[in-house]
Amino acid sequence: MELPSASEAALEVQQIYAEHGEVTEALNDIRSAISLGRPRYELAGRLTAFVTAVERHFGSEEGLMRAIGYQGANAHAAEHQRLLVQLRGLERDFVAGAIRQCGALALFVEVWTAQHMERQDKGLIDFLNAHASSAMVRRAFGSHSEPMAMRAGAAA
Ligand SMILES: [Fe+2]
Ligand SMILES: [Fe+2]
Repeated sequence: MELPSASEAALEVQQIYAEHGEVTEALNDIRSAISLGRPRYELAGRLTAFVTAVERHFGSEEGLMRAIGYQGANAHAAEHQRLLVQLRGLERDFVAGAIRQCGALALFVEVWTAQHMERQDKGLIDFLNAHASSAMVRRAFGSHSEPMAMRAGAAA
């Protein structure tokens, strides 16, 4: 397990935000296709693109969590797997014509995406941000963990 440096941690946070942007964009594509009354085959294509973006992002987040030995990695990855199973089922049902209400489909996808990002992903992002700032403090004041006041006193 290796914790990233401050700049690496900050970059990882940017990467997560960028990927969340891609996932949100794919979700917005579904929503606008629905509101424009686009045909089902187009919606199905957009849903597949969304699932693909989610899958790619989950893989990248899981790789990062493993690489840094993140404590909540197993629980977080387990939720990814649960969500992917649900999404793939939804995609299958939509393609098979079993889901008729496109609005309900978009709402479901939107709600879980937001929930996952607000709970599990927030924990990971907070961890990386905290690590980025503590690593910067260590770099600025040396690798010892004594309070700054003590160091200032020792130098005086
Ligand atoms: Fe996640
Ligand atoms: Fe995420």
